[in-house]
Amino acid sequence: SHRITLGPLVAAIDQGTSSTRFLVFNSKTAELLSHHQVEIKQSFPKEGWVEEDPKEILQSVYECMERTCEKLMQLNIDISNIKAIGVTNQRETTLVWDKETGEPLYNAIVWLDLRTQSTVERLINRTPGRNKNHLRHKTGLPISTYFSAVKLRWLMDNVDEVRDAVVSHRAMFGTVDSWLIWCLTGGKSGGVHCTDVTNASRTMLFNIHTMDWDPELCKYFGIPMEILPRVRSSSEIYGLMKISSCWKSGALSGIPISGCLGDQSAALVGQMCFQDGQAKNTYGTGCFLLRNTGAKPVMSDHGLLTTVAYKLGRDKPACYALEGSVAIAGAVVRWLEDNLGIIGSSEELEKLAASVGTSYGCYFVPAFSGLYAPYWEPSARGIICGLTQFTNKSHLAFAALEAVCFQTREILDAMNQDSGIPLTQLQVDGGMTSNKLLMQLQADILCIPVVKPSMPETTALGAAMAAGAAEGVSVWSLNPEDLSEVTSEKFDPQINPEESEFRYARWKKAVEKSKNWET
Ligand code: G3P
Repeated sequence: SHRITLGPLVAAIDQGTSSTRFLVFNSKTAELLSHHQVEIKQSFPKEGWVEEDPKEILQSVYECMERTCEKLMQLNIDISNIKAIGVTNQRETTLVWDKETGEPLYNAIVWLDLRTQSTVERLINRTPGRNKNHLRHKTGLPISTYFSAVKLRWLMDNVDEVRDAVVSHRAMFGTVDSWLIWCLTGGKSGGVHCTDVTNASRTMLFNIHTMDWDPELCKYFGIPMEILPRVRSSSEIYGLMKISSCWKSGALSGIPISGCLGDQSAALVGQMCFQDGQAKNTYGTGCFLLRNTGAKPVMSDHGLLTTVAYKLGRDKPACYALEGSVAIAGAVVRWLEDNLGIIGSSEELEKLAASVGTSYGCYFVPAFSGLYAPYWEPSARGIICGLTQFTNKSHLAFAALEAVCFQTREILDAMNQDSGIPLTQLQVDGGMTSNKLLMQLQADILCIPVVKPSMPETTALGAAMAAGAAEGVSVWSLNPEDLSEVTSEKFDPQINPEESEFRYARWKKAVEKSKNWET
């Protein structure tokens, strides 16, 4: 049958905490041609523990590629036009596998996991002045359960298979990007063991000034450097796809994997925040506000992280970002669905909340994994307060949406204080942005407009752009003269600022209770 010619295509694997996607874009128009998404199971073996199965993660990538190729073929689009594939991923999630058998040695410990809380408290108590910012000058990060180093330490201390593999030089450590690239480029028969600077900057083993693994940090956490992946830029050829097992995605064999970025960095690129001062907020499982600070790492005085934003080519300079990380955003929706059963889907949440249009004085702080930015309080726990006989599930649904907005307000305030230049509008993306009520609430609580691009898959687009750039395929969006073509939706604040401040002050009170719930 007749095949449509579109010119070069670029693709991305987007492996998030809650789901995996494979997406194919037209490089001329950045139009999303086809994609497929598969949900990822999370297991909670003990209180505070969060794990995922590395093989299921890999399998979900194969399935997404297979189904997307099928859809492309139905559209008469030639798969051989795909010139480059980018990888973008949930960050910090920690894996160790055996390089000889190719087998994972334990489940992936997800970034949200709290099992290292006591280790973290012990480490902080040992620092001069009990200072959680003891390693910040090198890493840009506070000592926290969030980052990979403590999770890796836990694996080495508690899992015999991991310890044995380390001793016998068979262990490989990686975040999800490394695991996927290694498997997709051949695995135990010659797979490439690498990561990019953005993912590396979330491990706590990486020096964000020298842009390399730091021997002192590795020693501090007792991590042998030989198990670490090689650190590369975010846009260069890491290796070629080697898959022949499935016939359709087998057609992707030989295509270079040439882009790699942690998902929050990829979204910054996909939103084209290339200028110092530009920012975006992504609403996924968690919620992450990143502001580009250009060539220099800016240290926060207000509880934000300093992180590598991207380095788009081996010889290109690195760009840094300030980041406000919120652990629980979309995850609260899944919790209302799976744990409380008060909604059947995320669309239902919007309807339920909209049916009342107020929380009726109820405040919900979903500190399920402690509190991240700006507090970094691992012992905080979730709290719902302000209940009366009148409160019902619709109010609770509304309070859950408001919680996402208040948490964003906290990190935006911190960002404005750190930089001294307040943001005048907020660029947003991610799954939850399809919730119009949430977007309106967000504008109301921030008292600035919220702007959402018409193509919501900015994370994947960023990774595909990085991959294309390394292969000489420049994606449309990289040309500034085309920027005017980006269509977007804007939400202006509709409530008066006093009302907004009043609610925010109440929220702050609830946060204090959540931080001190034990005392
Ligand atoms: O740092 C964790 C972050 O990368 C996870 O992103 O989109 O899966 O919530 P997401």
